[in-house]
Amino acid sequence: MSVTVPGSLGKVRPPLEKWQDWRTCGWTERNPDTVSGIDEVYKTQFGFTRTQLTEEFIGHIDRAARVLEVGCAGGLQLKVLEQLGFTDLFGVDLRPTVVPGRVAVADGRWLPFADGAFELAFTSGTMMHLHPAFRDRFCEELLRVSRRWIWGVELWAAVPSRWEWNGLMPNAWALPEPGTLLRINPALRLRKERKMCRYNFTYNSFLLEKP
Ligand SMILES: C[S@@+](CC[C@H](N)C(=O)[O-])C[C@H]1O[C@@H](n2cnc3c(N)ncnc32)[C@H](O)[C@@H]1O
Repeated sequence: MSVTVPGSLGKVRPPLEKWQDWRTCGWTERNPDTVSGIDEVYKTQFGFTRTQLTEEFIGHIDRAARVLEVGCAGGLQLKVLEQLGFTDLFGVDLRPTVVPGRVAVADGRWLPFADGAFELAFTSGTMMHLHPAFRDRFCEELLRVSRRWIWGVELWAAVPSRWEWNGLMPNAWALPEPGTLLRINPALRLRKERKMCRYNFTYNSFLLEKP
């Protein structure tokens, strides 16, 4: 599908330089680019597939619902949704991407969409790359563009901490999410949560619903 959503690198603010040559960090080379590939990795590491996790968290959502992923990279997670039957998929990333659905280059902190434009807005492994100083802004935007559901799969820690990733990619921050989102909008309902432990770190998958 073609690129139909306006977005501009002109909106990107520092310190994001690392992401702009992120491809050279080798993430896409190190990670599978097929749904069956990522399913296998998840099965080995967590005991369930990425597809099963997705079904567990958003399987109840209408397949015609408009969905946005912020930080969609090569679109692997959007491909999982596509295979589950979702049809109205959008993605944004700081880098140009090639994914199923309509994609824009945009910064999650300044999303080029109207309030409530999406039934579901989600992130997967993206919030964790934002410096904690920017997390409020990113979460405010995620909440603003979602009409009802917000899903996250993010690096988690009870106490905010920094992760080095051995220089393979930019630093990451583990925060007790969805704490930021719930602080910004205390009326949000936490519908589901699942801690996923992998090596010495933990991801949290959480689903929030607007009142
Ligand atoms: C680990 S990858 C995410 C992979 C993808 N979500 C998936 O599940 O397959 C992190 C992505 O977040 C993007 N990213 C980082 N900060 C961002 C921001 N402020 N706005 C939009 N995208 C961002 C990076 O360019 C990168 O592609």
